[in-house]
Amino acid sequence: MSKNILILSGSPKRNGNTKRLVDWFMEGARKKGAECELIETAFMKFKFSGCLSCRVCQKRKEYGCVINDDAKQVLPKIIDASVIVMATPLYFYGPSAQLKVIFDRWFSLYKWDNKAGTMKTPLKGKTMVLLASAYEDIGLKDLARPFKLTADYSGMKFTSLLVPNAGESGDIVKLRGVHGKAVALGKKVCS
Ligand SMILES: Cc1cc2nc3c(=O)[nH]c(=O)nc-3n(C[C@H](O)[C@H](O)[C@H](O)COP(=O)(O)O)c2cc1C
Repeated sequence: MSKNILILSGSPKRNGNTKRLVDWFMEGARKKGAECELIETAFMKFKFSGCLSCRVCQKRKEYGCVINDDAKQVLPKIIDASVIVMATPLYFYGPSAQLKVIFDRWFSLYKWDNKAGTMKTPLKGKTMVLLASAYEDIGLKDLARPFKLTADYSGMKFTSLLVPNAGESGDIVKLRGVHGKAVALGKKVCS
């Protein structure tokens, strides 16, 4: 069965390094017949800059956030996808704020019962892919850690492509071998 891939890309650059990585990944995935949807979170409209921790989602049967903004359309797509790609430039050794703002809204994709000590999530069994680049060769492994921990916590598989020395936006095309690696990863997650 063909994979349904949702890509959440947190770069504010429409044609930068992150976009190249995403395009190359999709090139590989589509060769394997995957359906890919790209959402550029930098251009989404949010009512608040992150999760409000209102916990209303925890009192409802359905998964999803009650805040009525662009995240409301995206969260169901995460539930429907079999592969979720998180793409980001390294910003001060973490993800861009533009990606983090939607990542924190994932809170509404879990149901915790703290008395029973249980957690349920529709993320279980899906695959998370992290695509990231940085100017330097410091910090990308640290960036990957919260994504990998979240994937483990959620019962998701995790894989990543971390590209150091990518230079300024657009310069990633000058790095040898990265295009091939991103295409190969796109194919691999669909196999
Ligand atoms: C706000 C900001 C913070 C950054 N912080 C880092 C950093 O901590 N380490 C690093 O190596 N590169 C850093 N960079 C460079 C970007 O991570 C790098 O150029 C990335 O490949 C750009 O991707 P993009 O073209 O999709 O924006 C930073 C860039 C910006 C604009």
